[in-house]
Amino acid sequence: MDLPFQIDLTGQVAVVTGGSGIIGGMFSRALGKCGAKIAVLGRNAEHGQKVVDDIIAEGGEAYSFSCDVMNKESIIKCKQEILDKWGKINILLNVAGGAIKDAAIPQDQFADIEGDMLNFFTTDMENIRKELDLNLYGTMLPTQVFGEAMMGQENANIINISSMGAYGPLTRIPGYSSAKAAISNFTEWSANYFAKSGVRVNALAPGFFQTPQNHALHFNEDGTPTPRSKKIIDSTPMGRYGEPEELIGALLFLVSPKGSSFLTGVILPVDGGFHCYLGV
Ligand SMILES: NC(=O)c1ccc[n+]([C@@H]2O[C@H](COP(=O)([O-])OP(=O)(O)OC[C@H]3O[C@@H](n4cnc5c(N)ncnc54)[C@H](O)[C@@H]3O)[C@@H](O)[C@H]2O)c1
Repeated sequence: MDLPFQIDLTGQVAVVTGGSGIIGGMFSRALGKCGAKIAVLGRNAEHGQKVVDDIIAEGGEAYSFSCDVMNKESIIKCKQEILDKWGKINILLNVAGGAIKDAAIPQDQFADIEGDMLNFFTTDMENIRKELDLNLYGTMLPTQVFGEAMMGQENANIINISSMGAYGPLTRIPGYSSAKAAISNFTEWSANYFAKSGVRVNALAPGFFQTPQNHALHFNEDGTPTPRSKKIIDSTPMGRYGEPEELIGALLFLVSPKGSSFLTGVILPVDGGFHCYLGV
């Protein structure tokens, strides 16, 4: 893997939730390339093995652990396994999360009292609850469990993943937008809470990246862009989707012991300008 620039994390231990996913896997490989030992976390440890193999093939050190970010006992068990193996935790990336397909509202606005049968009023709130649980509690719980072990460690850093839905609600995904707004708020809360213990807490707010997770909302089955996809591009001043690799530089900056040592509580948008464009 090519990095936009190098930082030195030699000897540090980084824990990545959702480490077998698109962004989590990429972040794991990037920090591995900087010398950190990487704990790749996923509900099924086998799914993280490919990421571990890639890191080892590039000369790094990594191991795949089972961890469900919605289950505190599972996180506590995982923390103990990591401490038994490597003795400490310096960096936590809370990447597990995402939108749940059945929690999406099919239309941007309520349009037709007679015929609009699938809408917010008929949405199963359990799906929205799952979305909040996965994204918000799936960030809070690992912060609670791993954060305690990180206090006082060298270059202790927690990075959360927010979204454009945190700056203002995105149509159709009220649960996801609410959860990500709460993650931004929790990032600022934690930055204050942990500040004197040496743990910095920041978040990345990715704009729109083409990944399997959002593919169904943005592309038709034949691969052509949906009207939503066109709106996204028109609302992004840089006029395109991001490439996932374009998040790496922002991550390295935020976890850099030298580059951002006085920076905490920041939600850093990486979005081609989407967050600062209101359409006119
Ligand atoms: N892709 C985008 O355009 C985009 C934009 C903004 C924010 N994000 C955020 O980035 C993060 C990663 O997204 P991605 O695109 O890589 O998606 P992804 O689906 O590839 O990765 C999500 C990972 O979370 C894991 N996960 C789900 N539930 C879990 C649980 N209970 N316990 C542990 N792990 C669990 C999944 O197995 C998967 O590995 C998410 O928080 C997402 O909301 C993505």
